[in-house]
Amino acid sequence: MFIILQIITIPVIPIKILFPSRLRVEKIRLTGKYKGKKCNIILLSDFHWDANPRTDEKTMNDVIQRTNELQPDIILLTGDYVQKDANPIKELTEKFFSRFQSRYGVYAVLGNHDYKRDPKLIATSLEKIGIRVLTNDFIRPCEGIELYGVGDFESKEFIPEKAFSKSQSKNTLEIFDKPKSKIEEEKPVFRIMMSHNPDSANILSKYPIDLIVSGHYHGGQVCVPVYDSEWKFKPIIPALVSAIAKIGIFLPGKVKRKLGTIVKNWDWRTGGPHKINETVQLYTSRGLATHPPLRLFCDPEITLIELE
Ligand SMILES: [Fe+2]
Repeated sequence: MFIILQIITIPVIPIKILFPSRLRVEKIRLTGKYKGKKCNIILLSDFHWDANPRTDEKTMNDVIQRTNELQPDIILLTGDYVQKDANPIKELTEKFFSRFQSRYGVYAVLGNHDYKRDPKLIATSLEKIGIRVLTNDFIRPCEGIELYGVGDFESKEFIPEKAFSKSQSKNTLEIFDKPKSKIEEEKPVFRIMMSHNPDSANILSKYPIDLIVSGHYHGGQVCVPVYDSEWKFKPIIPALVSAIAKIGIFLPGKVKRKLGTIVKNWDWRTGGPHKINETVQLYTSRGLATHPPLRLFCDPEITLIELE
């Protein structure tokens, strides 16, 4: 996919100068099952810190400052901290992530690029500054919320049943704001699953989860204006495929089916809230990355999830 995008977005530098992206805070409010005190959750994804052109220092400083200004109770990081080399994780964690201020902690899962490089080094660097990495693991960061995390969907470490079997054991309970003896087990809990790749939602939605948070697709990364009752910026790949499918009435059935497969669940991938079934919601972040070729009309995102 990126080869196609690279061709489409040449020349890279003039386009980046002409169409700079703006860091945006996307807010969603979830009410209903959650019965605890109002909780502000920040979701950040896809840093690709060593990519070229990379997420620059100014953007990262803005991300830290604006995240802290939102006074988060919990911060969630859904992977892809690096692109081609694991070592820059040390700079990313020590120079930037160490400045996060979050009442009940910062939690992370790893992405496909992290698994391709050095997952052990990346996890260790995150843990070294106090970020809890949840790989097929579970935690209760505060009363009323259970937080789960899985390894990347494309890796051997995607084992959700392991996380859920751990949640059955009371020995694993970790509560930051209350001693274990005061936990009221019978109260309903809101279950959040962190999974880098939203394509995992079909499998994860079979588990007792309320919300899945993901990243991975960078909002489609390159968007174009598309008219659909009003003008909107939409990711170029599904827009192109839909246009081809619409005008391609003479295409063989096999080709049409292939196009349909490519765009299947694209709305899950390209950002925002999505309903997977009656009980499970998915939120996919556009992430922050500016890895090759670049982002175009697809603003980097800080997500504020308000639970109340
Ligand atoms: Fe990514």
